[in-house]
Amino acid sequence: MTVYDRAEPARAASWAGAGMLAPFSEQMPDAAMLALCRESLAIYPEFVAELRERTGVDARFRRDGTLHVALDGARLAELAAHAETFRANGGEVAVLDRGEALAREPMLAKDLAGGLFVANEAQVDNRRLGRALLAGCESLGVRIERVDGLAVECDSRRVRGLRTAYGFASAPVVVNAAGAWAGSLPGIPDAARVRVRPVAGQMLAIAIPRTAMRALVWLGHRYLVPRDDGRLLVGATVEEHGFDARVTAAGMHDLLDAALAVAPSLATFAVVETWAGLRPGSHDGRPYLGATALDGYLVACGHYRNGILLAPATARAIAELVAGGPADRLAPFAPARGGTEPEPTVANGLS
Ligand code: GLY
Repeated sequence: MTVYDRAEPARAASWAGAGMLAPFSEQMPDAAMLALCRESLAIYPEFVAELRERTGVDARFRRDGTLHVALDGARLAELAAHAETFRANGGEVAVLDRGEALAREPMLAKDLAGGLFVANEAQVDNRRLGRALLAGCESLGVRIERVDGLAVECDSRRVRGLRTAYGFASAPVVVNAAGAWAGSLPGIPDAARVRVRPVAGQMLAIAIPRTAMRALVWLGHRYLVPRDDGRLLVGATVEEHGFDARVTAAGMHDLLDAALAVAPSLATFAVVETWAGLRPGSHDGRPYLGATALDGYLVACGHYRNGILLAPATARAIAELVAGGPADRLAPFAPARGGTEPEPTVANGLS
């Protein structure tokens, strides 16, 4: 088995993300997506443990929950009103008053009103996860090749393999997992093409005392993710202007504005990194998983905001398919499913 990458492997969205494993806090488009995300979260601890045993690289899975912060009473009432929806989706939630929220996360604004705590959400260090997966693949004999000019070759019925700048590699099965670039891989007939589009996200990191914050912290559409090494990630913008992954002044302003509103004491700490990545957006918010109109050509892409969360469930489902397993389980994610971009639905009720 060979993994072909036209750039450094595990260095695109897998590297740029925040590693939040938060199926209840993210807005899910529908029940099928929520179920797949919950399944993936459930198998995450064993996925990370197996990688650690095989490679020695610990991707640092941590289940410290998510705190949605309310800075005023109106927002706290709104969070409280949606607690039941979180519970119905499987979230273990509690509404916290100011004292309880600050007891949990003392770095937050002293005058906040309270919050909604989701105990069963987690995080993983996605950069470590990428390194662990590469090492794990290599330990199993998978070749990782960095190539230029990657294109799929097929006849009128089935895939034949991959062409690169270095020649042709025959393959009975090709899986397109090219992230935001999955829709533009050359050589694929229109009937088997998926509509993936890039959705940029800018982020920054602030150095804080280690363990000063434990939970994922959400303020509206922005979030803080505390890492074990003392980096506090602040994310993320959501921008649609093609393959543009620049860090901009407006993007940084937006993130710092949110971070300082929720935790004013961050103002004195150093910003140690800024970066941006491209999420792979699909037409309806669900990933494209499984077989296509072209025999032997499978896709695993379009995970949008939940690629790290869905990694183990995606890997398992695609491995089962390649091994000849049934496809019915993946029907909601069929690459050829119809539909157009839906109106945004709000699965957890929060705006
Ligand atoms: N999963 C969070 C984001 O994509 O910003």
